[in-house]
Amino acid sequence: MSPIAEQVEALEFADVRPDVRLDIYRGEEWITSFANDVRRGLSASPRFLPPKYFYDAKGSELFDQICELPEYYPTRTEESILAARGADIVDTAGASALVELGSGSSLKTEHLLRPLLASLGEALYVPIEFSESAVREASVRLVGEYPGLRVHGVIGDFEKHLGGLPQADGRLFAFLGGTIGNFIPDEMLFFLKRMAFLAEPNDSLLVGIDLVKDKNELEAAYNDSAGVTAEFNKNVLSSINTSLGGNFDLDAWEHVAFFDEQNQWIEMRLRSTRNQVVRVAAIDLTLDFVAGEEIRTEISRKFTRDGFVSALEEAGLDLRDWYTDADERFALALATPASV
Ligand code: AVJ
Repeated sequence: MSPIAEQVEALEFADVRPDVRLDIYRGEEWITSFANDVRRGLSASPRFLPPKYFYDAKGSELFDQICELPEYYPTRTEESILAARGADIVDTAGASALVELGSGSSLKTEHLLRPLLASLGEALYVPIEFSESAVREASVRLVGEYPGLRVHGVIGDFEKHLGGLPQADGRLFAFLGGTIGNFIPDEMLFFLKRMAFLAEPNDSLLVGIDLVKDKNELEAAYNDSAGVTAEFNKNVLSSINTSLGGNFDLDAWEHVAFFDEQNQWIEMRLRSTRNQVVRVAAIDLTLDFVAGEEIRTEISRKFTRDGFVSALEEAGLDLRDWYTDADERFALALATPASV
């Protein structure tokens, strides 16, 4: 069978231990959506690749390295805000459960889980994440560490699988890391509207957003001197080579990242250094690139408080509170469904 055949979606349940259950969406295999998105994006004009495909095993490792770079401030800044204000956030939200979209290894999450458990004695954590191993490992670690915690994980795509989420009185939905900045404005509005629709009156939404700042500081964060971001960017081409039988020559591409002031986003691209023909065998795709031609690989939006509040309001959400660091590099916006 072709590796990119259609698959029917199924939902499985796993009781890992009495306090950990998982809902596992087995739908379209990763390789199928990768194949379809690569075909669509590389055939488009201008060409693009969706940023979610950065995060294969190698890419996730490179992203962890990015988070440690001196130039890359978002991760450590967000973490410092969570460490300082986690208890206030949980308290203001009136939360009894934490639902995390794109939970990864759930490390920063502990700044919210700890105060939640401290005030209530028990809590529910719902990590939603594509990687089953990440959720299993995080769940077992967290229930071991925090008595009173129950985990109901969802293995799937938070853009698709928010339908059957467990109910609780006061769910805090957290979307951390600034990942919301990867959405183009229309996609972000769609996402926020969906959150507004899903939220019960006592639920709230916590979003990590990177803020507009000096262009040099922004550009340095995506053009680090150690070259890790360049490697991360090019890794998507190795992933195409490995998973889809591509023959991209990584030495014939250069990393480009700049702040687009008009759109207020960082744009990352890969630029072809010469005329070249690339084959992607598994999807029978032959691509002609001219020297200087670029593939857009990511946008990472930077927000102002007013701009983000307008987007929330347009989606039917109100800003409840705003948490930032002393230098106003990064913010956590706490929102609630607008009362009708
Ligand atoms: C994980 C999407 C927030 O946009 O800053 C880091 C990804 N790209 N360096 C970001 C990323 C290049 C990151 N997000």
